[in-house]
Amino acid sequence: MTTADFLPFSRPTIDEDTIQDVVACLRSGWITTGPRVQQFEENLKNYFNAPYAFTVMSATSGLHLSLIALGIKPGDEVITTSLTFVATLNVIAALGAKPVLVDIDPVTLNIEVNQLRDAITLQTRAIMPVHYAGLPVNCDEIYAIAKEYNLRVIEDAAHAIGASYHNKKIGSFGDIQVFSFHPNKNMTTIEGGCVVTRDEEFAKKFSQLRFHGINREAWNRFGKNGSQHYDVMLPGLKSNMSDVQAAVGIHQLAQVDGFNARRRELAQRYYDAFKNNKALTLPVPPSENEGHCWHLYCVQINPENTSYTRDTFMEALKDRGIGTGLHYLATHLFSYYQNEFGYRAGDFPKTEQVCDRIMSLPLFPTLTNEQQDRVISTINELTL
Ligand SMILES: Cc1ncc(COP(=O)(O)O)c(C=O)c1O
Repeated sequence: MTTADFLPFSRPTIDEDTIQDVVACLRSGWITTGPRVQQFEENLKNYFNAPYAFTVMSATSGLHLSLIALGIKPGDEVITTSLTFVATLNVIAALGAKPVLVDIDPVTLNIEVNQLRDAITLQTRAIMPVHYAGLPVNCDEIYAIAKEYNLRVIEDAAHAIGASYHNKKIGSFGDIQVFSFHPNKNMTTIEGGCVVTRDEEFAKKFSQLRFHGINREAWNRFGKNGSQHYDVMLPGLKSNMSDVQAAVGIHQLAQVDGFNARRRELAQRYYDAFKNNKALTLPVPPSENEGHCWHLYCVQINPENTSYTRDTFMEALKDRGIGTGLHYLATHLFSYYQNEFGYRAGDFPKTEQVCDRIMSLPLFPTLTNEQQDRVISTINELTL
């Protein structure tokens, strides 16, 4: 087998028009935040039907700046789950606040809303639910609880571009949504993300925090009508997206619904191929998950029905030229979270079981049926 035959678990889809536009941007003389970012943000607002959409350098920085904008400070608590990329917890801990974790629902792999109330204390300021793998959380219940306890909601929508809940796009309702455009996400800007809100006060603060606390975008300052004068309202950070990235994003956003339609087809094919395979626990099928945007197709290895563990199974697939992803190791068991917050094995049994068994199969829009059939037959041969 050559490297060329290796099938990765994810691969970005970049077309020739996008490449041409990146080249045009590089030749234009304006490569950082400028007209393409402005255009991309307009397109994002239209896509989400939202009054505010801010591009950022990553979802991590979007989450971080959102917490700062909400005034999260040492001693505060923010509720989320352990089944996530560690960025979700890190941004809370980086502000001296405590990530208070809740176990997951083992079917949806999203936060167990029935345990949410028990996690709320006088220090709780916000809930940060994760739309895991692109399946929306129970927004009705989470927003009802947030209202009851006067909490803010920052949806970690890193996986959820194009997902919908009760036929409404994630990002088109609710408090604050943070999307990731990392290359393995459903659309990419190389690195990057965006933050969407309908809250004018939050938006004003966020846009200043995104660029040094300055009250005007830099590219206006240097435009022909711009002034060199500006004021600083907050000790902000720097998370503006470049026009080169926005050139990619404009094309990706126009294609993301099509990308997601193909992801859905592939998810259905996996479901059909594995529904009788007792070695695997599958996600709920696409036909029952209308709003799922299928960022990941995660299966769990059932130790009762195969001699493979998740790790040996991933190795066996790698040896056969098939890449898989591990989303995720239980974040509460990382050394920092054990040492700093006292989390221990056994604290979140459902999350821990899933984290021991889960792996993500190849899923990206240009994956062909033939390539997917190779994944399917290899897995079925190993496990049936
Ligand atoms: C659930 C979740 N939250 C946050 C992030 C951070 O996204 P980014 O890489 O854009 O900072 C990721 C990235 O993989 C993620 O999966």
